[in-house]
Amino acid sequence: MERRQKLYEGKAKIIYATDDPDKSILYFKDDATAFNGAKKGTIADKGIINNKVSARLFQMLAENGIESHFIERLSDREMLARKVEIMPVEVVVRNYIAGSLAKRMGRSEGDELPRVIVEYYYKDDALNDPMINRDHILAFNLATEKQIDEAREIALRVNQVLKKYLYERDILLVDFKLEFGDYKGRMLLADEICPDTCRLWDRHTLEKLDKDRFRRELGQVEEAYLEICRRVCGDDI
Ligand code: TMP
Ligand code: ASP
Repeated sequence: MERRQKLYEGKAKIIYATDDPDKSILYFKDDATAFNGAKKGTIADKGIINNKVSARLFQMLAENGIESHFIERLSDREMLARKVEIMPVEVVVRNYIAGSLAKRMGRSEGDELPRVIVEYYYKDDALNDPMINRDHILAFNLATEKQIDEAREIALRVNQVLKKYLYERDILLVDFKLEFGDYKGRMLLADEICPDTCRLWDRHTLEKLDKDRFRRELGQVEEAYLEICRRVCGDDI
């Protein structure tokens, strides 16, 4: 598969066209940002780890009947994927109180929620990705009813499968963000699933093993990403 022109460069990845119009290549960078780009840095080998962890998790989800854009890992930092039209809505699923939910509700982090919460965010850097609801999505034409309902249903299924897979590896899936895209008329799970996009706590010590270590300057960032790689993939980079 040949890498062609750059289609899009985001904060953590670059998307390239390929010689097949239905496929694209994702290139995973070490760049890390937080608070909508206000905090910038790099996390050593993050791109390699996020590519490897995402590939393993997409593969595992496929084995459990949940398709995604993932086709194969081409190299340390490159993933071959189906080329989707990304929906401008991020879907966040929460199992425990943490992050912006803790702040919004005036609660401390750590309690398990009595039921799962799904939230939607409008992907717009200039607006700081505001939280929106299903009515906003439909009124502003960000997705059709069928698309957002499909995305929500897939997100809940991902949560079930992923929570179990991670728990068996001593990781609590606190919350996570998914992106979806249209692929030939259906909603397909896309983007990445990795320590950048999930909150992952050690099941016994509740130690944070995700990007919150970078966001909150907790130190041992690279070590946490490597630990997730080991537990999820069974080996080092
Ligand atoms: P939040 O608590 O800050 O709203 O984050 C919820 C989840 O979404 C958390 O697992 C981290 C992830 N997330 C992203 O992947 N990208 C983002 O830009 C933000 C703000 C959160
Ligand atoms: N995506 C956010 C940013 O652009 C980072 C984050 O908090 O995950 O800065």
